Amino acid sequence: MKERILVTGGTGYIGSHTVVELQNSGYEVIIIDNLSNSTADVVDNIEKISGIRPVFEKLDCQDYEGLDALFGKYPGIKAIIHFAASKAVGESVEKPLLYYRNNLVSLINLLELMPEHQVKGFVFSSSCTVYGEPDELPITENALIKQATSPYGNTKQINEEIVRDTVASGAPIEVILLRYFNPIGAHPTALLGELPNGVPQNLVPFLTQTAMGIREKLSVFGDDYNTPDGSCIRDFINVVDLAKAHVVAIDRILQGKQKEKVEIFNIGTGRGLSVLELIHAFEEATGVKLNYQIVGRRAGDIEKIWADPEFANRELGWTAVETIEDTLRSAWNWQLKLRERDIQ
Ligand code: UD1
Repeated sequence: MKERILVTGGTGYIGSHTVVELQNSGYEVIIIDNLSNSTADVVDNIEKISGIRPVFEKLDCQDYEGLDALFGKYPGIKAIIHFAASKAVGESVEKPLLYYRNNLVSLINLLELMPEHQVKGFVFSSSCTVYGEPDELPITENALIKQATSPYGNTKQINEEIVRDTVASGAPIEVILLRYFNPIGAHPTALLGELPNGVPQNLVPFLTQTAMGIREKLSVFGDDYNTPDGSCIRDFINVVDLAKAHVVAIDRILQGKQKEKVEIFNIGTGRGLSVLELIHAFEEATGVKLNYQIVGRRAGDIEKIWADPEFANRELGWTAVETIEDTLRSAWNWQLKLRERDIQ
């Protein structure tokens, strides 16, 4: 058994896939989650895949005393992967203080407690949202950080700054910030995926729900962008590929391979796909016809963004390998599984 790793938000969408990959690599995982956007039975499904039941404690990262006690109860945690955060762009506009409180207080609590409990490594879920509308594509980690377009995006920028300032002050911690592009898909077993929480705001969950007949029609937000087919372009990354990036980040920290105390990596495929291309790829991959309609632009959308993942490829030795077809099939299989379980 390798080192003990704490995964906050470990029953969530990206967190649960990462727990499986950590276990597959021999790490011992402790999950904490407040279950605000997930359910405890995710732990059963993690166990079904990996054969190992991770420790699970229901805990909110805003609870400083609770966290302090957790580190006492599970001594020897070597690193934290911090997923637990609020992440819906639209909701963050409606409830900014909830977003600032949750996303900032959780991070501050963890960073304060790490040195006290000799936790060295920290991997943080950041987002390509910190780049805003890019000036050059593909976008590298050195691109300018633009003014955030939502409170959610702003919390990611502020989180990155808090981490950097904390390390600069001499805190004995080592950090990797992973800037995710657009995570999609589900585990190939269809035991893990993104649980629906009301009407989906993101493209792929809305798309699979439409294909299932839960939604009547998928709205494509705009076909008058400056792109070949007029729809927005994104870098869609398979969630298992993304999960694996966390394992190599943890390996790198714990094996002392970091070149800086804070390192930043783009986690994307390097392939830009338009919304319409994605819809057609889904239809091809699954044989399911999709009811969609072009409507007006959605406020705040970025026209086009995709990663230059070269730094992550070279330094982490990590590359996204899953095809878009397999990824979309996994999303569809997950949706079919949700219907079996009668979850909408
Ligand atoms: C947003 C966030 C990103 C976050 C991600 C996942 C910003 C700028 N981006 O990405 O940080 O990581 O959500 O939570 O804050 N679309 C449709 N119809 C739909 C839904 C979406 O056409 O019903 C289009 C959108 O206009 C966009 C693309 O699909 O062009 C992707 O949208 P979405 O899945 O919401 O992700 P982002 O907005 O790219």
